[in-house]
Amino acid sequence: MSKASLPGAERRTATTAELYDQLKAQLRSLLEGECDFIANAANFASLLFHSLPDVNWAGFYLYKDRELVLGPFQGKPGCVRIAMGKGVCGTAAERRQTVLVDNVHEFPGHIACDSASNSEIVVPVIRDGCLLGVLDVDSPILGRFDDGDARGLNELLSILVQSI
Ligand code: SME
Repeated sequence: MSKASLPGAERRTATTAELYDQLKAQLRSLLEGECDFIANAANFASLLFHSLPDVNWAGFYLYKDRELVLGPFQGKPGCVRIAMGKGVCGTAAERRQTVLVDNVHEFPGHIACDSASNSEIVVPVIRDGCLLGVLDVDSPILGRFDDGDARGLNELLSILVQSI
């Protein structure tokens, strides 16, 4: 079973499932009483960036006028617009499916925003059947993300979508 670390004073060895359970509780608390999507997405990105081990970029691309536009994020500056079907983000958005990439350098059409990134997970954000955008999380570690991350991030996004 993969291991991860809890943030701050509660730091200890935890399973991926335990880490995401903790993040779900923190996210519910962060979003409580607030329904502004940009504000909640910004806090979501910050929570992930500062809590998930070995992550160098975490944030959103929002679906606007049939393309993806950079939204709230933490990390180095990102490319601003991504066409549907392009890169990992555009692929996940077009398929409306989570895309896990163990080695971004082997992904055809990968868009390199931060040269430190070696693996990536992109999860579509869908509300009532409508695509709102994608969540993108990057890591300098090859093969950093697995099905546990996919499950946990999808559960966290359900909490975000329910908040708006
Ligand atoms: N690598 C992404 C582009 C976004 S940055 O990583 C922040 C892609 O290929 O879609």
